Amino acid sequence: MNETLQKIKEETVAKLKATENLDALNELRVAILGKKGALTEQMKNMKNLTPEERPAFGQMVNEVRDSIEAAMEETKKRLSKAAMELKLKSEVIDVTLPATKTEVGHKHPNELALNELEEIFLGMGYEIAEGPEVEYDYYNFEALNIPANHPAKDEQDTFYINDNIVLRTQTSSVQARVMEQGKLPIKIIAPGRVFRADEVDATHSPSFHQVEGLVVDENITFADLKGTLLMFAKKLFGEDTKVRFRPHHFPFTEPSAEMDVSCFKCKGAGCRFCKNEGWIEILGCGEVHPHVLEMSNIDPEKYTGFAFGIGLERIAVLKYEIDDMRLLYENDARFLKQF
Ligand code: DAH
Repeated sequence: MNETLQKIKEETVAKLKATENLDALNELRVAILGKKGALTEQMKNMKNLTPEERPAFGQMVNEVRDSIEAAMEETKKRLSKAAMELKLKSEVIDVTLPATKTEVGHKHPNELALNELEEIFLGMGYEIAEGPEVEYDYYNFEALNIPANHPAKDEQDTFYINDNIVLRTQTSSVQARVMEQGKLPIKIIAPGRVFRADEVDATHSPSFHQVEGLVVDENITFADLKGTLLMFAKKLFGEDTKVRFRPHHFPFTEPSAEMDVSCFKCKGAGCRFCKNEGWIEILGCGEVHPHVLEMSNIDPEKYTGFAFGIGLERIAVLKYEIDDMRLLYENDARFLKQF
């Protein structure tokens, strides 16, 4: 046999034996059988031979190619088998090992507090009402006795969309929306997000949540307000909770008050929690102002009502003893899953 052909064959077979992976095998295939491969180059030499020499040389090249191809096929099988064995070994699943747990979500403290509030008021026969977060100035201010240029507008500085539309500063906006529907009696709570141009600190956020309450019917008095809110406080903070009402001013209620609950930590003795006061403020309330009823086409001679507004975050930080309100907005799972 032609010496060069013999050498190509022997060297290739030796290399194939040492080949460790499929990439190397492919490289070798190209180097020998490819367009510019060593064996292909030999074929090109045919033209330099005499017509008599050609058939024998052609036959030799074919033989060499056949045996190289067979050896390559064998190498491929050997490498594929090894790769498969390695893969199976690395993918072994031990079904006796404990399963890896998927993290499930957790209710946010705001949501937990809201669920509890809703439960209490639904139990007292209230319905849940809703209003838009992007609100007309009319419902957020005007219909609540806060006309343009009223100083109370400054206290609740907000984000204006235009002169008539604001991000609502209070869920009280839902009061007028419910009243003007004209269905009486009214007994609703309205939870939702509100916005104010406040700087972020431990007790303030430009976006927070309130739960509004409104009752309108014949013969509703301040005694109904006190009885309802006392019951609410006891259910939320415990049976021995006391409440006190401090006179206050809200443009849409008359008289108005802020309600404190006796500190559920120290039972009124004074502690860090209630800043040594023994009392903790939790909501604003009052009898619905007759002019507010009138603006929503309810006859104040026949109907009276009371309203209240609770800060949801305030309830959540109290109930779950959270020091800093900002934690409620950071969505750190390590914090959230404690409650
Ligand atoms: N809207 C008031 C505020 O954001 C809270 C409030 C006070 C609501 C008295 C009421 C109420 O319904 O009667 O500060």
